[in-house]
Amino acid sequence: MYDENKRIVGSAHLLEDDTNEKSIRPRWLKDYIGQDSVKEKLEIFIQSSLKRKEALDHVLLQGPPGLGKTTLSNIIATELGVNIRITSGPAIERPSDLASILTNLKAGDVLFIDEIHRLNRTVEEILYPAMEDYALDIIVGKGPNAQSIRIDLEKFTLVGATTRSGMLSAPLRDRFGVLLSLNLYNQNDLKEIVKRSANILDINISDDGAREIARRSRGTPRIANRLLKRVRDYSVVKKDGNINLETSREGLNLLEIDDMGLDNMDKKIIYTMYENYNGGPVGIDTLAAQTGIENVTIEDVYEPYLLQIGFIARTPRGRKLTRKAYEHYNLKYEGE
Ligand code: ADE
Repeated sequence: MYDENKRIVGSAHLLEDDTNEKSIRPRWLKDYIGQDSVKEKLEIFIQSSLKRKEALDHVLLQGPPGLGKTTLSNIIATELGVNIRITSGPAIERPSDLASILTNLKAGDVLFIDEIHRLNRTVEEILYPAMEDYALDIIVGKGPNAQSIRIDLEKFTLVGATTRSGMLSAPLRDRFGVLLSLNLYNQNDLKEIVKRSANILDINISDDGAREIARRSRGTPRIANRLLKRVRDYSVVKKDGNINLETSREGLNLLEIDDMGLDNMDKKIIYTMYENYNGGPVGIDTLAAQTGIENVTIEDVYEPYLLQIGFIARTPRGRKLTRKAYEHYNLKYEGE
């Protein structure tokens, strides 16, 4: 089975990213490039919370993987001057796991729950009174003697992150006071991110070299930073260690990332649509079965970028290839 985690332009979070990325991750809002409208709002809400000396309202961050949701939640905690506890939906298996996390939070602390749409039902229900009343309702005893007791929690800030806002239950969603959507980055912002990271990693890169990496990074900083390191490797071994336009191009070609930032998996999706469905429309489940890529992966990882660059279009009957996709791969276009 195809493994998204092993893909060089995959946006899945790799452990390897973390080791170096700790230092290249921006720590303050002023160092965070792009997502201007998100930054502008956060800045105000954070300032207000600091002025009022009260916990920031709960924040929901939504958007495709690799855009900096974890980074932003760390920034929120840093700006607020509080501690952050980081966990994820699938990691919290039982209500008692969440109860112990919640009771250990100090006033104003940030609790970050990544992939919050994957919390199970019983755990999610603990979260409702915790978010709304900063309280924990626990049942002691069994049968007719069972009693519910309420434990007060410190006023904390929940930061939830999800790639799939549509999969969040309405009661959970309604309890967030701040809803923020991250979009794929434009190439200019991505280029600035590449230059900033190169600077921190002591990599000498030209403006057009950085632009080339940005252009092929699917609007995603996590991918841009990963490609930067791999192109650096290429240059260290084959060139002088610096990165200019030529080095960028050669390094990226070696990684089999094409001119548009597409790799073999994107190609497989597009060719499947072309060869088996005459360009579509084709339903997501059919496409998943045919390509061997999970449908959530297609929806979260591949589709946002293919939609953004206008290679596929969504129709009521499924996904369809556009003329642009045909032209990119030199396929015969039979539409009008
Ligand atoms: N590294 C990853 N995302 C970033 C961003 N938005 N700004 C600066 N550096 C980053």
